[in-house]
Amino acid sequence: MCGIIGYIGEENAAPILLNGLKKMEYRGYDSAGIATLSDDGILLLKDKGKISEIDQKVNFLDLKGKIGIAHTRWATHGGVTYENAHPHVSCGLEVATIHNGIIENHHQLRKKLMDECHNFNSDTDSEIIAHLLERYYKESGKVKKALLQTVQTLKGTFAFQAIFKHEPNIIVGARKDAPLVIGLGKNGNFLASDIISFIDHTDKVMFLDNHEIVVMRGKRMNVYTFNGERIVKEITQVAWEAKETSKEAFAHYTVKEIHEQPKTLRTAMHQNSKKVLDFICAIKEAEQIYITACGTSYHAGLIFRNLLARIAKVRSHISVSSEFSQNVELIDEDTLVIALSQSGETADVLESVSLAKEQGAKVFSILNAEGSSLSRESQMNLFFNCGPEIGVAATKSFTGQLAVIYVLIFSLVDDSKMSNKLFDIPRNVEKVLETEKNIIKIAEKYKDDSDLYFIGRSIHFPIALEGALKLKELSYNHAEGMAGGELKHGTLALIEEGKPVIVLNPKDHTYDEMLNNISEMKARGAKIIGVSNRPNGMYDDFIQIPKVDELLYPIVEVIPLQLLAYHTAVLRQRNPDYPRNLAKSVTVT
Ligand code: M6R
Repeated sequence: MCGIIGYIGEENAAPILLNGLKKMEYRGYDSAGIATLSDDGILLLKDKGKISEIDQKVNFLDLKGKIGIAHTRWATHGGVTYENAHPHVSCGLEVATIHNGIIENHHQLRKKLMDECHNFNSDTDSEIIAHLLERYYKESGKVKKALLQTVQTLKGTFAFQAIFKHEPNIIVGARKDAPLVIGLGKNGNFLASDIISFIDHTDKVMFLDNHEIVVMRGKRMNVYTFNGERIVKEITQVAWEAKETSKEAFAHYTVKEIHEQPKTLRTAMHQNSKKVLDFICAIKEAEQIYITACGTSYHAGLIFRNLLARIAKVRSHISVSSEFSQNVELIDEDTLVIALSQSGETADVLESVSLAKEQGAKVFSILNAEGSSLSRESQMNLFFNCGPEIGVAATKSFTGQLAVIYVLIFSLVDDSKMSNKLFDIPRNVEKVLETEKNIIKIAEKYKDDSDLYFIGRSIHFPIALEGALKLKELSYNHAEGMAGGELKHGTLALIEEGKPVIVLNPKDHTYDEMLNNISEMKARGAKIIGVSNRPNGMYDDFIQIPKVDELLYPIVEVIPLQLLAYHTAVLRQRNPDYPRNLAKSVTVT
């Protein structure tokens, strides 16, 4: 989940790397560091804390050199300390490395290297890479050989980079089950976990695949397999524009991304019709369909399943990716697995897809990030192209996923009337965004409530789950999403005087039953916050949404819940862009 970036070129590396780190801070933000290669050897500055705090303390720009590597960390092995921050160096500052992933055999390797008198400074699994590279480099004096020996020794997942004290013109990198992409700039080249970290400099990239290494020497670079065979990589031009990574006039990325949704929805709805056709053919032909996703993407998957059943009369199964292996005996070559993901790098999703492929299943994906690991593992991709999502909370990616799902469903049943109604949705989202002031008032009123409940039925139930997830993630208030019909099976016991309950209650087929639920909760003293196109005397507070087709409410009703979570977080003085303990791309299982 860490962010890594390396630079080799004609300019001073430190400012470029610092800027890259700031762009990737969403990946991990408990510590950071930069190492450069200068005439005086390897220079290193790092510490725990957020990048700007560390920079104020150490002044990264003091680092000289036109080659460097940098890392922003989300701790897996070893606590958040100076020592555990990356880059890690080998004995005598011979090699510096940065790593994203988990080295599974680090205990054995550490013991072996300690027996050979290597001194370790950190508790991390990553430091092993620096010592291994140093050891092998000392044996042969050859960078490529040392790199190949290192990757062949390591078990686990990794994307790492290294610089060598005695190789003044080289950065190396290796990839296995963690992203690594090369950026080809005018005045220098980049190697990073995220395109976003160098998109200000270039949009020309080469994606490393699993089991590949790269040796970047000056302007040249060579890519090899872990067996040392040379590979020629294709250059891809990515579509993301540099400006999309700025906060513009907004206080946080999260709120900027919430407000971008009318635009990102429009983009997501414009899918290539041939690709949509291929996707729906696969849906029609499949004997069985499994949907796999995590977190917010899983909630989009629940809506997908609901629509497949209700509208297209297609049976499908869904599971969170971390539980997908429970289905493995049932997956075969007639199965279509549909993976949903913003990042395309979520380790649980990738693992589920890999299991499915081993069983011979077809894998199609709906995702945001071009060139991501998932896109490369799938036979077919539909991208919702909502641009980089920096806020850790998924917002515009959720509605982008939903837009693609609706496009698929309405194409599947050949319903052009519904497709036209879908095209009207961004306008309705604009209307909801205009009600932000009312949502801020509601956030002020309930911000200190320690438990909030979100209730919905049918297609609104996944939105209740999503509203609760957003609130927990951003404000750290406890929240639960529940199906209206389930209240009486236990959770009604939690409702007492003054408990806030947010009810998703547009005037559709669920409306009357929801009114019954509301009566039951009000009778026990709940404060009801109604989210509906229709006011009702039973609501203590009301969030008005426009009337839309009943199938399309999820997109419009999730917007106020995103805003509510955002403003509650801000009022509680949380940083919504960087919620504690979380990272944007969850690249560990
Ligand atoms: O990149 P993905 O869509 O695969 O990520 C899945 C989840 O980690 C993600 O949706 C997470 O739940 C969000 N932080 C929720 O806002």
